Amino acid sequence: MQIIKARDYEDMSVKAAEVVISHLKQNPALNIGFATGGTPVGLYEHLIEDHKKHQTSYQEVTSFNLDEYIGLSYDHPQSYHSYMKEHLFNHIDIRQDQIFIPKSNSLDPETACAAYEDALFTHGGIDTQILGIGSNGHIGFNEPGTSFQSNTHIVQLEESTRAANARYFNTISEVPTHAITMGIASIMRSKEILLLVSGQSKKDALYHLLHGEETEDFPASILKRHPRVTVIADHDARGES
Ligand code: F6R
Repeated sequence: MQIIKARDYEDMSVKAAEVVISHLKQNPALNIGFATGGTPVGLYEHLIEDHKKHQTSYQEVTSFNLDEYIGLSYDHPQSYHSYMKEHLFNHIDIRQDQIFIPKSNSLDPETACAAYEDALFTHGGIDTQILGIGSNGHIGFNEPGTSFQSNTHIVQLEESTRAANARYFNTISEVPTHAITMGIASIMRSKEILLLVSGQSKKDALYHLLHGEETEDFPASILKRHPRVTVIADHDARGES
């Protein structure tokens, strides 16, 4: 696991964008795994800025999102479909038919999960997976206790996760209770993982990741087993004085 020390959120975002852009230069047909949430917003801003300034193209890129809520229409402002459009896809030249986000509103979500795994496999898997981390160690929506062997599946969100995400909704009761997420095994099949960690609220999670035991009770702990993980963590998340 390689650790890149960033000063603050902005520096973390710049450093993450540099990694993604350099990979895109080497392989314009990169398969990128995207995360949502607050952490990667700055990274996406820098990717957009670079696309506008240097015309870095996403026309050959295929994207896979980690997760999507069940029960929100895709055009609901807090759906991850909307998030990705707002924060990235509307501002770059990615092809619509190359964008994959779990079809969480399908009438048969179990089949949608299997279809998502098929799409990942057919496209040769994810080259660079961007991840954030929950304060309880979740990655994607894989909450503590999720099997390390899990593929894309339906999850019930923990109350702590719903509470953390309530900031985007009017009340916590509006936060969906379920989602589809790529599983731990699906994430671990990515060729490279870029984990972004920012802020004091992630300090304990980062400490556990770096120094704690490997356990399904702390999903991110599996990342130590992956041969190519880069953690970009800012000063507050590292908790250094
Ligand atoms: C988002 C996702 C989640 C977040 C995590 C951290 O697609 O899968 O695992 O990465 O909840 O969220 P933020 O970045 O909002 O702290």
